[in-house]
Amino acid sequence: MEFKTIIEPFKIKSVEPLAITTPEQRKEYLEREHWNLFGLQSQEVTIDLLTDSGTGAMSAEQWAAIMRGDEAYAGSHSWQRFNKVLTELTGYKHIIPTHQGRASEKILATITVKEGDIIPSNSHFDTTRANFEAALATPVDLLCKEGLDLLTPAPFKGNIDLEKLEALLNSDDIDKIPFVLMTITNNTGGGQPVSMENLKAVKALCEKYNKMFLLDACRFSENAWFVSQREDSYKDIEIREIAKEAFRLADGCTISLKKDGFGNIGGVLAFNDDALAEAAKNVLILTEGFPTYGGLTGRDLDALAQGLIEITDRNYLEYRARSISYLAEKALEYGIPIVQPAGGHALYIDAKTFLPHIPPHQYPGHSLACEIYLIGGVRAVELGTLAFGVAGEDGKDDTPATHELVRLAAPRRSYTQSHFDYVAEVLEKLVEKKDTLKGYEITYQPKLLRHFTAKLKPKT
Ligand code: F0G
Repeated sequence: MEFKTIIEPFKIKSVEPLAITTPEQRKEYLEREHWNLFGLQSQEVTIDLLTDSGTGAMSAEQWAAIMRGDEAYAGSHSWQRFNKVLTELTGYKHIIPTHQGRASEKILATITVKEGDIIPSNSHFDTTRANFEAALATPVDLLCKEGLDLLTPAPFKGNIDLEKLEALLNSDDIDKIPFVLMTITNNTGGGQPVSMENLKAVKALCEKYNKMFLLDACRFSENAWFVSQREDSYKDIEIREIAKEAFRLADGCTISLKKDGFGNIGGVLAFNDDALAEAAKNVLILTEGFPTYGGLTGRDLDALAQGLIEITDRNYLEYRARSISYLAEKALEYGIPIVQPAGGHALYIDAKTFLPHIPPHQYPGHSLACEIYLIGGVRAVELGTLAFGVAGEDGKDDTPATHELVRLAAPRRSYTQSHFDYVAEVLEKLVEKKDTLKGYEITYQPKLLRHFTAKLKPKT
């Protein structure tokens, strides 16, 4: 029998109070922090949608696994369980634990990337991009044209543009390309999935031009869910089998296990290639730790081993996708322009379209994110000119980012339907205030990654 209501497929064993604050308090907190949402204390935030990274709720089985944690420095039982689950899931020969995704990226960049290299991707995530740039290489985003059009729905807006990829591989630059990296799902482009057809085509191109093919697989399970829903030939295949197949198309991966590892911390770097794995382990020992723990405690490894089993559960994925698409439906109903269709882990509001009266150098996304907090204590994050623009010198305007987005990312298993209803109500009230919202100006900014610590004030 079919039911209309998609329920949270879990019940609650342990609870954490939410901060219920007044509008006056919220204004006072934001003023105190110079209008920077990163400055807020978590007890000042009612619903925290800043990120889905490391913010999820662990299951009773994961907490039980914590108690099994074996803290032996080398060869612990926890490591063996972690290694077994990841070997079965990915099929890669070498599994290298790290403390989080960017640690895997740093090691990857250290051992594979040299000055002048070019690294093609559908879209690089910021830390991935920054790690390759720090190695003096040029990361290039070759997102398909559907992905570039934010507001028009298409099933696989995370796909890479295969023609552009082949043109690059077939150019004089071929020797500068150490590997092709595909991000699944594509966080930067709105949490959009990549089809298996696209991954297979990338594999074929990598084989043709003799290049290594890697995945940034932070959200591999959400990607597999979308494949099961949108790619006909996969509709009857188990989610875990789809994920397994995706990993087996590539030669290795980096993963932040703070996303689809159901972990609060953790990462992995994995390869088939023996020489690369050895080089990675040599760097790992210097920066993270011995190869059987890599910056994690035994209990973390055990929690992740269990999380990696739970993450491909169909009922969980259905509830998760539905939470986001529900918010997206509400936003559209209220006339808020969003990246369509809804992504796997977050709702992305297009602030440029929503607030045309605020120019990019006055940070429309930031204005929106502040207002969302002021209305209901919901914390989102600006992904626009404040985060990615280039600061103007000598009083000149900033060079704007390509998009002015605000991301509301859902932590895994942490919030229930009424929390999402509350967020929807905040969005409804936002529309009423839309024309009164003002731009911001920066009063202090650091040289790098300014959005984390910049001080701002509203324009009068
Ligand atoms: N790759 C992708 C696609 C990511 O989304 C992230 C993190 C990383 C790599 C880096 O992993 O944080 O464990 O070092 N994304 C978080 C976010 C921070 O909020 O989207 P990490």
